[in-house]
Amino acid sequence: MTKGIKIVTIGGGSSYTPELVEGFIKRYESLPVSELWLVDIPEGEEKLNIVGGLAKRMIKEAGLPIKVHLTLNRREALKDADFVTTQFRVGLLEARAKDERIPLKYGVIGQETNGPGGLFKGLRTIPVILDIIRDMEELCPNAWLINFTNPAGMVTEAVLRYSNWRKVIGLCNVPVGMKMGIAAQLGVEPERVHIDFAGLNHMIYGLDIYLDGELYTDKYINLITSEDESSGTMQNIVDLKWEPEFIKALKAIPCPYHRYYYKTDEMFDEEMKAAETVGTRAEVVQKLEKELFELYQDESLTIKPPQLEKRGGAYYSDAACNLIDSIYNDRKDIQPVNTMNNGAIASIPNDSAVEINCVITKDGPKPIAIGDLPVATRGLVQQIKSFERVAAEAAVTGDYQTALLAMTINPLVPSDTIAKEILDEMLEAHKEHLPQFN
Ligand code: G6P
Repeated sequence: MTKGIKIVTIGGGSSYTPELVEGFIKRYESLPVSELWLVDIPEGEEKLNIVGGLAKRMIKEAGLPIKVHLTLNRREALKDADFVTTQFRVGLLEARAKDERIPLKYGVIGQETNGPGGLFKGLRTIPVILDIIRDMEELCPNAWLINFTNPAGMVTEAVLRYSNWRKVIGLCNVPVGMKMGIAAQLGVEPERVHIDFAGLNHMIYGLDIYLDGELYTDKYINLITSEDESSGTMQNIVDLKWEPEFIKALKAIPCPYHRYYYKTDEMFDEEMKAAETVGTRAEVVQKLEKELFELYQDESLTIKPPQLEKRGGAYYSDAACNLIDSIYNDRKDIQPVNTMNNGAIASIPNDSAVEINCVITKDGPKPIAIGDLPVATRGLVQQIKSFERVAAEAAVTGDYQTALLAMTINPLVPSDTIAKEILDEMLEAHKEHLPQFN
């Protein structure tokens, strides 16, 4: 790639874009991006112009020859792209707020990537991703698709199962967030910590932790089960402490999202409390976004403002830019990403997506086989994988019974009858963004 790298970001008007721009600026020497195309839809045009303006100022301030293009024409942008990153939200934050509020009425967790909310986010998103892939097949057949759009695991599963596109990687900031959190707790540089990650997106475990190459799992478990230490979370997930004896028995580090499964009742109560006071997470984020976009409009702002750190996506740009950098430079370093299992986890189908440590090469991620997950974690992971597969099928076919099946087998939904009630209300609430069901 002597011409310089062409990056296309779909959902470019997102408030997260300055993260990405900062990442490209920091790595320019090893990752010479020549063109950054920020793409959005007409409803996002105002945000695209504001965030695009900031992106241009950041690059000018850095004195780099990266050309930023803002467009509503996805096909124009995709032509000859090298990397396409996706970070869009079908139905915007209004749809997320519905995903979070409706299940609560039925006594069920309302979360954007877990339970009924995760199902509906998948139903809205998967057809759009498959559409983008059809454009990529035609316009940039050699590009890598780096998908950030949630639910990232289910989306990767759908791409692997319902398209022939194989240059796809699902990416999430949870593993890097866990690593940074652990390093901070231990008071060491992150490079000194290594974690054996395996599982699924938002359902990933740290199976072992190493400090300076020495096994540190037991010591770390002792630390987080001691009284005053946090067991790690992110901005969008309340930091409820684990039962010490449970974590000692599990012998693995759960991710922040595991609280929805191992602390379902307490998390439900927290969500209810929030919904009745400050609002659901989407409603909180709507306010935050307003503030952020006001800042972004300030012509004197030429850096990513620190307020962006109030969002859950911390280290998002590091994850994305490190991945792109490692593919471009064939670094063969280890990064946790969503990719085809190919036998890396024995109890998950070979052709399914898993989130696991991979060696990142110019030909993409090569998953590092772990044998199998510990027996205590295996069942839940398999159940979520079944849910993701059935949900992806429902998203592609628009079949009501398949959607009901997905809803019912989700471990956060207590019965088939409640599943049906939630499904019916959510299908109606989201019908504008679910043409396949109409
Ligand atoms: C975490 C998750 C992301 C998610 C984000 C939500 O970082 O890993 O998948 O998108 O939180 O953050 P928000 O600020 O939108 O609630």
